[in-house]
Amino acid sequence: MLDTTHLFTPAMFADPYPIYARLREQAPVLQVPQIGMWLVTRYDDVHQILKAPDVFSSSRTPALEKLRDPRLSEGMEMMASSSLVALDPPDHTRLRRLVNVAFTPRAITRLEARVRELSCELVDAIARKNSFDLMEDLAVPLPVIVISELLGVDPARRAEFKRWSDDLILGSRLDGRMSDAEIDRIVASRREFVRFFQAMIEHRRREPGDDLLSDLVRAETERDALSPEEVLTMALLLMVAGNETTTNLIGNGVIALLEHPEVLPRLRAEPARIPAFLEEVLRWRSPVVMLVRTTRRAVTLGGVDLPKDAVLGVLVDAANHDPTHFPEPGRFDIERQPAHLSFGYGIHFCVGAPLSRLEGRIAFEELLARVPEFSREPGPLEWTPSFNLRGLKRLPLRRGPSLSAPATPGSTA
Ligand code: HEM
Repeated sequence: MLDTTHLFTPAMFADPYPIYARLREQAPVLQVPQIGMWLVTRYDDVHQILKAPDVFSSSRTPALEKLRDPRLSEGMEMMASSSLVALDPPDHTRLRRLVNVAFTPRAITRLEARVRELSCELVDAIARKNSFDLMEDLAVPLPVIVISELLGVDPARRAEFKRWSDDLILGSRLDGRMSDAEIDRIVASRREFVRFFQAMIEHRRREPGDDLLSDLVRAETERDALSPEEVLTMALLLMVAGNETTTNLIGNGVIALLEHPEVLPRLRAEPARIPAFLEEVLRWRSPVVMLVRTTRRAVTLGGVDLPKDAVLGVLVDAANHDPTHFPEPGRFDIERQPAHLSFGYGIHFCVGAPLSRLEGRIAFEELLARVPEFSREPGPLEWTPSFNLRGLKRLPLRRGPSLSAPATPGSTA
């Protein structure tokens, strides 16, 4: 029997891949007694779950909420009952149709000039310094400003957005390691976040503009296509889903370059390879680690009988390292063209995928053109302590080639 005590510990944030490998081989569908959740790690099983929403529901059942600290439930009922990502058809289909319009390839192409302008400004500021924090100076601000402008909220408040969404994500920790102070802060943060967006929505009802928030309000007031609650949860979801994840794509991409120094000169010589590089980054270090589903009925998965209402932790990060689909999964290979599951699959496939690909491409084009060489400041990497997202808190770099051997990859604070 596999020992599961180390599964939800900080060591796993740094390097979960050996643990995933053992799970895939020995217990691909395994219930973790301390949290009651079943972890699913093989590509084929993950794929099967994501393509069958009629069997594996996205709705957040009481069973999942029981896994969390009850004090964190405040305000979550609304998120759970009306947020796109937590809905099943037919409500999911109705909401998804509305939001799809904002993220069509044509709509995204129209954003290119602005994303380029912002990336240039941020990279110019980096190019003037000898040392910089890749996260703080580029990976965090770029997606936050883009999604704020798209929604029509003031990007000057981005430090608050970042804090609110960090806290929202922290609230999804399942390891029970949160202090009372942390829980109080998370709850307060959520209240502020909700109040801020409620005020913005009120304002748009009186004075609609030509931003996404106004479009959502119009769908509510003119077409009755959204409820007031749905407008709010959609705005919160876009704000959170649209920034932390892309931040991690950019940060994890730079880690990939630092750990594989042969890739950087290839990308500099041929920037057209940046999209292929980003797809491999998405596979190699998936910004979203785990999705959650609940069985609607008893079902057999990977040879294991699951009861109705079983809560599944669907580990896309582990599926992306399944050697039956990705030979030598630990190897970083920009020629791979991986069919990764980092944006999910099926009806919930990430609506923001074209936007994050655009932001990632332009951020790397500008960074590699203007800061052609950079190296790690000594010190361990500090990963965000989340089981849902995989990314760094900080990434201090200095311009110029490496002066010494890089610090141990994957080490954590
Ligand atoms: C690298 C960046 C990103 C990654 C890795 C990512 C990943 C994902 C994944 C895995 C899902 C599926 C969730 C599920 O099946 O339960 C998802 C859904 C979603 N994503 Fe993203 N995402 C990224 C960027 C974005 C951006 C930039 C936006 C918006 C501006 C966004 C908005 C959404 C929304 C609204 C959903 C829910 C879709 C639905 O339920 O139908 N994401 N994302």
